[in-house]
Amino acid sequence: MATEEQRDKRFFITTPIYYVNDRPHIGHTYSTTAADAIARYHRMRGEDVLFLTGTDEHAQKVVRAAEAAGLDAQSFADRVVTSFVDMWDKMHVDYDCFIRTTEDEHKAVVAEVFRRLMASGDIYKDHYEGWYCVPCETYFTEDALNEGGLCPDCGREVERLTEEAYFFRASAYGNELVREIEAQPERIMPDSRRNEVLSFIRGGLQDTCVTRANQGWGVPVPGDEAHVIYVWFDALINYLTAAGWSLDDEKFAATWPPDVQLMGKDILTRFHGSLWLAMLTALELEFPAMLFAHGWWVTASGEKISKSRGNVVDPWAEVELLVEESGCTTDVAVDAVRYYMFREVTFGLDGSFSSEGLLGRFNADLANDLGNLLNRTLPLVERYAGGMIEQPGPGAGELSEEIERAVARAEHGFETLDLRGMLMGVWELLSAANKFVDERAPWDLYKQGKKVELAAVLYDVVDVTRVVALLIAPAMPSVAEEIWRQIGLDAMGIEMSWDGCEAGKLPPGAQVRRGRPIFPRIDLDRVRQRVAAEAAEESEAEEEETDMISYDDFMEIELRTGKVLDADPVEGTDKLLKLVVDAGEDEPRQVVAGLAQEFSPRELIGQTVVLVANLEPATIRGVQSQGMVLAAGTDKPLALIVPDRDVEPGERVR
Ligand code: MSP
Repeated sequence: MATEEQRDKRFFITTPIYYVNDRPHIGHTYSTTAADAIARYHRMRGEDVLFLTGTDEHAQKVVRAAEAAGLDAQSFADRVVTSFVDMWDKMHVDYDCFIRTTEDEHKAVVAEVFRRLMASGDIYKDHYEGWYCVPCETYFTEDALNEGGLCPDCGREVERLTEEAYFFRASAYGNELVREIEAQPERIMPDSRRNEVLSFIRGGLQDTCVTRANQGWGVPVPGDEAHVIYVWFDALINYLTAAGWSLDDEKFAATWPPDVQLMGKDILTRFHGSLWLAMLTALELEFPAMLFAHGWWVTASGEKISKSRGNVVDPWAEVELLVEESGCTTDVAVDAVRYYMFREVTFGLDGSFSSEGLLGRFNADLANDLGNLLNRTLPLVERYAGGMIEQPGPGAGELSEEIERAVARAEHGFETLDLRGMLMGVWELLSAANKFVDERAPWDLYKQGKKVELAAVLYDVVDVTRVVALLIAPAMPSVAEEIWRQIGLDAMGIEMSWDGCEAGKLPPGAQVRRGRPIFPRIDLDRVRQRVAAEAAEESEAEEEETDMISYDDFMEIELRTGKVLDADPVEGTDKLLKLVVDAGEDEPRQVVAGLAQEFSPRELIGQTVVLVANLEPATIRGVQSQGMVLAAGTDKPLALIVPDRDVEPGERVR
């Protein structure tokens, strides 16, 4: 339970703020829904939570995406930000604060940070000469580029920058960062990531360029509007803005430092683990209690899912797939996608996302284990006890230990961000409860008239479903509510609170109300057959398509008229003629044609023919051929294709 000390201070959790040049994909959704689950857990414990997310809008790539869409950057950002707000809403993400870095309040905080660090000498003006990767929004020195002179992170081309710029004296803080991180290792988790950060910092922190030439997008440097503040420097400050730094001292004191800052592993080492911590040191602010870097969702072949690689998984398409295949409600499908993401991979490692895996887990874990316990238990309460939970007799409480174990594991999971372990603990409890029903066979107890035992068994099993609802509520809020409703606690006005996570707190008198199964089973064989049929149809369509060529394809074939100036047999064959053709170019061409058996050289000389003029040159029987003469005839040339009236050589044929 929350201690008094915890209640005094807010639980402050952040996700990265997302580049607004993009639509949210499964990778973004992962950070945000995981943070949401953790925030919900702390709210359920009665803590005052500040869960922050938002959008990072001052990137160069936003300007480029806006240009491509024919909009100015601000209008583009205004439009795209709704796709994030809508997606979080649809994915049951309940944040407390959404920051857009283009908001005036945030811009003022960024300018204030800059001013203070200028005043303390932590920011100084110099000259930048080096490379910049726009997709990664990262500066690189020449040495840091990969072998081909490309971005070491994404492998794309980098841009050369030579400009006057401001630098942040990160080099001054390397030793202090190492000391701090070593003193409190849990500040950067998991361990493997912390080691990467430490070795990066030990390699020598360089001063960081923190401005770009002002091209009309970004927060201007206070007092020097020829420059704007570097997008990462600007974006990291969003955490300070949300906490009220320089805006509201009381709020800041109650909020800072963050308890958990979540992010993907790609933005830990260079940014959160070093630049951000160095900025905080320079500002004399406390470090976050924990930076946690989760892994990536990758494709089956191990490639990171990202917009630039063109392999994104749209979380909403997965939700729709579940609804279509199982007939569950959209809210349940959303929770099932959340469940899949948390259960499938250990938080911190990479995982490969697959729709098949999602449907499989829906059946195995949700329909079978969780759904089954509900679907078999509630009808028993209806049948044997008129739907009413009775005050249990002395035999109740047989599953208390299992409940205690699952609660302890869930708490540990939420505290250490082991979301998978947290769910696995719950599923152990479910399987213990399913086994308990099998073993205690309430139907037999009923037949044998063992009323007291029967009431105790039913109580224990429904009590498990109650605790399970509480334990999964942070991860699957809608499913938990539906279970709460089905076991009648909603109608009794009982709130879902973590304090209820103890065996035996199911109030007698609750009236169960069985609903439709929450997780209707998916017919996986039917899905497989359908997928196979669709794939076959697609490949057939592709084949058909390859029989046809488009108008554009046709226009790529350059057909021209040409006058045959000379014709000679090719030595060593009785089929080929060597033609000299005037195709309206500076020099006549030499074309080898398989016409010798049907046409004599005399017949051809002076004839205007049609030539494929852009055919790749080839050497046929040792003779160079630049083009092809068109003739009709399937097996052998029966008739030459010739214009029906006089045309100059070199006319286009179409
Ligand atoms: N705007 C910066 C963050 C600034 S925070 C002060 C940014 N944005 S992002 O949109 O590119 O990425 C946002 C988050 O999504 C990052 O934590 C990133 O790791 C995460 N993911 C993006 N693709 C991902 C996967 N394929 N898998 C898991 N998470 C990944 O970086």
